Amino acid sequence: MDQIASAEVATTGPKCSGIGCDNPASKLMCADCRNVGMQTFFCDQTCYKKNWKQHKAIHPFHGHKFSGPLRPAYPLSPRRVLPPKIKRPDYAEDGDPKSERIFVGRHKIKVLTKEEQAGVRKVCRLAREVLDIAAREVRPGVTTDYIDQVVHQACIERSSYPSPLNYCHFPKSVCTSPNEVICHGIPDQRPLEDGDIVNIDVTLYHGGYHGDLNETYYVGESAVKNPDNVRVVEASRDCLDEAIKLVKPGALFRDFGNTIEKVAKSRDCQVVKTYCGHGIHSLFHCAPTIPHYAKNKAIGEMKPGMCFTVEPMITLGSYKDETWPDNWTSVTRDGSRTAQFEHQILVTETGFEVLTARLPDSPGGKIAMPVIETNGDANGAVNGTANGASTEGTASAN
Ligand code: MF3
Ligand code: CO
Ligand code: CO
Repeated sequence: MDQIASAEVATTGPKCSGIGCDNPASKLMCADCRNVGMQTFFCDQTCYKKNWKQHKAIHPFHGHKFSGPLRPAYPLSPRRVLPPKIKRPDYAEDGDPKSERIFVGRHKIKVLTKEEQAGVRKVCRLAREVLDIAAREVRPGVTTDYIDQVVHQACIERSSYPSPLNYCHFPKSVCTSPNEVICHGIPDQRPLEDGDIVNIDVTLYHGGYHGDLNETYYVGESAVKNPDNVRVVEASRDCLDEAIKLVKPGALFRDFGNTIEKVAKSRDCQVVKTYCGHGIHSLFHCAPTIPHYAKNKAIGEMKPGMCFTVEPMITLGSYKDETWPDNWTSVTRDGSRTAQFEHQILVTETGFEVLTARLPDSPGGKIAMPVIETNGDANGAVNGTANGASTEGTASAN
């Protein structure tokens, strides 16, 4: 009787998380795990202490002082798989984007042939479709891991590889960056909350080319009623749209930052300096590097056939960033909110083509500043349907 009962406890009850320990778990729980939403039990203090070194690798956040209110919600879901027939970039297996590390011609900006232009045009259109599908799932209660699942599936349906997956060991298929996260947020078990803002950054690899874009979305009714949300989100949208208007043969990559910072400052916002726009085609990240801040010294001049992203990250408070101990999540040092928009652009003979342009039915889009209630009249802003800047442009002669 006794023996049968204890055997049942050992096989059906929670087991101690100590490595090689077969004891049943006690109520002793790792507090750091609990803080990120995991339930890890040990049999006793001695076993916990013995396992500490290896165990803390599970939750890299031990003792971390978070800059803002956001917390990760672990465990991450298991690594997602792809059908073998989908063509993979070089880093898919070992996490190392070897072809990006070529040293000869590293600073040369590629001019794409007509055929290559057709390739980036195609993948950017697919990436736009996937971003729009993901954005339609944004609502309170939905986890960012679910957004990741939706993106992953939509990529497969388009015979595309989700470029973030295992890029320099990034663990997921998309970046999701809520609130104070500047970029590179890892999809996890945290449900989006009414009042959040969230950036979804989608990149696809298809036919040998990458297509990269992102937008920031308002989560729930409360989000659009928060003037600070609207100020930072619409500032970053306008920064990108104004920057794109500069694109034409002969324009300088260093000039984007002056326009972006001018728009940001006019909304009392700042510009993140650590992360830049980048060349992109058969490589995910390559020359040119495109800073978004003023007075930068970026090298290079635009020529027809060049392809790159512009992706300004704009903050309500200080532009200064720090990285979570997961080595990816970039947050503002002061914990204030931040927003980003990204397009992939092709330089044409006369101006530009926004390869990742919004479609007539794309979710999201510009909204107006909420009108502050003065006499009990609820007066939130309404989600607009405006599609922003035009897809193609011819810069004016002056
Ligand atoms: N999409 C991002 C960009 O705009 C890069 C993400 S890299 C990842 O450049 F590894 F974090 F996915
Ligand atoms: Co991106
Ligand atoms: Co990018």
